[in-house]
Amino acid sequence: MNAAKLRAKARATLKQNDTGSYTRPAPGLYPNQWLWDSCFIAIGIATYNPARAAEEIHSLLKGQWRNGMVPNIIFHDPEKDKIGIRFWDSKRNPNAPKDVATSGITQPPMIAEACWQISRHMNKKEARAFLKSVYPKLLRYHQWLYRERDPDQNGSVALFHPWETGLDNTPGWIEELEFVHMPWWIKLIEKTHAANFVEKLVRRDIHSIPASERLSTRAALRLAHVAFGLRKRDYDAQKIMRRAHFVIESLSFNSILLGNNMRLEWIADEIGESIPQQLQKRFERAKESLNELWSEEYGKFCHRNYLTGRIVEVHGIAQLLPLYSGAISKRRAGQLVKALRDPEKFWLTFPVPSVPKDSRYFRPRAYWQGPTWINTNWLLIDGLRKYGYEEEAEQIRLASLELAARSGMAEYFSPLDGSGAGTQNFSWTAALILSLLSDTKLESQ
Ligand code: GLC
Repeated sequence: MNAAKLRAKARATLKQNDTGSYTRPAPGLYPNQWLWDSCFIAIGIATYNPARAAEEIHSLLKGQWRNGMVPNIIFHDPEKDKIGIRFWDSKRNPNAPKDVATSGITQPPMIAEACWQISRHMNKKEARAFLKSVYPKLLRYHQWLYRERDPDQNGSVALFHPWETGLDNTPGWIEELEFVHMPWWIKLIEKTHAANFVEKLVRRDIHSIPASERLSTRAALRLAHVAFGLRKRDYDAQKIMRRAHFVIESLSFNSILLGNNMRLEWIADEIGESIPQQLQKRFERAKESLNELWSEEYGKFCHRNYLTGRIVEVHGIAQLLPLYSGAISKRRAGQLVKALRDPEKFWLTFPVPSVPKDSRYFRPRAYWQGPTWINTNWLLIDGLRKYGYEEEAEQIRLASLELAARSGMAEYFSPLDGSGAGTQNFSWTAALILSLLSDTKLESQ
């Protein structure tokens, strides 16, 4: 594999998707700015242009709501983004920013991590100035998460929509959606087999990508229905919780949040600030809470249904992500690595699949139901290093580079034969390949 060639290819993808102040996740399919995409993208850009990487984050934070939420999508181009803006209609919530349109939900809170990584490519003075400029906003975001999404203060934040996990159709969540009462129009569409018509009308993704590589229209309709319910309640957490059908404490989201809490603490330290005591307490409780998501019954970490307290079995990559949190014991980490190294589960030819091979849901090219994604690999590499599993981390790093060398900057890859799937020229694949190529030891301090 030629590293220089790979690097050039990755940079060309990012250049192609660059709008000047933010980077599209992919041309055509995703023209807007997305939260965790931008974080991963910034981590990659930082390896060759830290100032531009900082710009990516500043532009993301322009979408921050007055209550602290950072939305998962920001629509910077009102002309081109009409459909998305109308779909979300987020201005119905008084906290939404006045000068830019956004969605009404969030996504995995990777911003503190991205800022930390960017700062490591700057000189001391630049790093301090950058971290100082973002810190108050990051603080408000983490405060919002624990204030509005953890009202029972048990330490785990709750999500209102599978899109907030970033793993849209991950099994477990999709099963939970089946408990949500569906309106007549969805039942009608399903009964009359009008799905084909709907697909032609609104499924932009499957115009260019084989339907078998995306989520099913059944799932897509349910996701849209849940989003409409949130819109009806003006994206107001209290109104939503009061009459909620679907609120989940997500294992992957909380694991990522914990890893980012830690980065926020580091940032505070670096610029001579300290995390407010109340929030610090929540951070501590959050660590315990994650550990409470271990289920003896299933022998793995799981999600929890916030409304009923019921444990929701995890069938995918989320079960390994507590490694990234840094908040689990060595013994638990060992149990996760055992599952990771199991060739019947996660240790396939091109690890790490989004769903283990022995799961009834496993489909090697189907979106979040089997393919290997470079962002979750990046998170796992970091997590494995936190627990001293250098060898496994290195093998996943090499497998990731190999995937991109063989199949380009695909959105995701078959873990069996390494073929690319989804859209091409995907920004976070390109960006994280640059990060993995520069191999700055993701967890270095
Ligand atoms: C899809 C992915 C999500 C990503 C978005 C933009 O919705 O599931 O994680 O942020 O596309 O790339």
